[in-house]
Amino acid sequence: MPRIEENARNEDYWHSIAERYDVAAGPVNLENGYFGRMTRGVAQDYQRNIDFINRKNSVHVRPQFDGPQNIEIHHQLAGLLGVEDASIALTRCASDALQSLIRNYNALQPGDQLLISDLEYPSVESAMRWVARQRGLEIIEIIHEHPASHDSLVASYREVLARHPRIKLMALTHVTHLTGLVMPVQAIVDAANAHGVDVVLDGAHALGQIEFDLQALGVAFAGYNLHKWIGGPLTLGVMYIDPRRLADISPDMGSQRYPEPDIRNRAPYGTVNIPAWLTLPKVLQEHKDLGGARAKGERLNYLRELWVSEARKMPGIEVLTPDEPRLQCAISALRFTHLQDQTPMADRLLKDYNLFTVVRGGSACGSCIRITVGLTTSLDDINRLIRALRELSRG
Ligand SMILES: Cc1ncc(COP(=O)(O)O)c(C=O)c1O
Repeated sequence: MPRIEENARNEDYWHSIAERYDVAAGPVNLENGYFGRMTRGVAQDYQRNIDFINRKNSVHVRPQFDGPQNIEIHHQLAGLLGVEDASIALTRCASDALQSLIRNYNALQPGDQLLISDLEYPSVESAMRWVARQRGLEIIEIIHEHPASHDSLVASYREVLARHPRIKLMALTHVTHLTGLVMPVQAIVDAANAHGVDVVLDGAHALGQIEFDLQALGVAFAGYNLHKWIGGPLTLGVMYIDPRRLADISPDMGSQRYPEPDIRNRAPYGTVNIPAWLTLPKVLQEHKDLGGARAKGERLNYLRELWVSEARKMPGIEVLTPDEPRLQCAISALRFTHLQDQTPMADRLLKDYNLFTVVRGGSACGSCIRITVGLTTSLDDINRLIRALRELSRG
């Protein structure tokens, strides 16, 4: 295989990868951020597992999936994250993991403060606000500028952490869902650790497209899913707790499913999507064979840069994602500067150009159109997007 950076622009190679996915005719999907497609091979394996579990039912599940199979899947997932088996629990999605971490964090005292930013995902933001209300704590919120820079982001956290010594716990999003901004996680976590502040890291959009060393990052708590950039079936997530910090997260709803201490008691109790979990080994093998997050990330960034570099030159369009490679990934957002609500432009992208995007909002950046390339995105798709943006920007 050629070097990964060169490979990112090898259209023949990526065309052969795109061929592994079944894609319906119709609008070009530039909203690959919601969840990822499974390859045909993974979808077939998943279907086989559905049929298998449906036939065998608990005769297989009790002795196998609840036993050695689960241990093996758990082990493979810990391997993906590069952490000890005892530091992860399987969940149904990133929100399940993150909300359980937040509601069960038991190291808060009256008078403590919680830190969030306006770029947190709604399920994380609402959980932090809920905990604050339940326990009479104060929320401190950072409102980010757009586009931000690496240094301005780090400086904003350092400044707030220094100004509010009562902050005890903070949420941090590795890749923000609105603009695809990749946070300088390491520098921000270092600042938090220097102030004795615990971080709950939302890695929902990071896993599979961004390379990181979870242990080296130094966060105590994190949540991920496997149905975005890893390419697994929907309903797979994972919770991480630094084993030295397990006691700071109480069992969820008092769960005693496993003898304590066991991180699995921190995951919300319930029957999981067993066929989906049985498909994970196949998913992880394909992810690895493709070159992992490094290869996926390079390709996605290459595609994104093709359209963003053109959009930046168009009058009347503002790209809200920073122009700094280390802060970028597959997701980027823009807005047409003459409009408050970007819905009419997203509608025109679909109606006039057959391009499916999504309007997002809710932060200080206001309404924006989020465009997310994927592994099935072709150069033709990108060229169609550039032409559409150029024509729409001219009015
Ligand atoms: C930044 C971010 N965090 C968390 C989530 C929630 O992930 P899940 O659907 O796995 O709960 C999302 C989903 O889009 C997200 O974008």
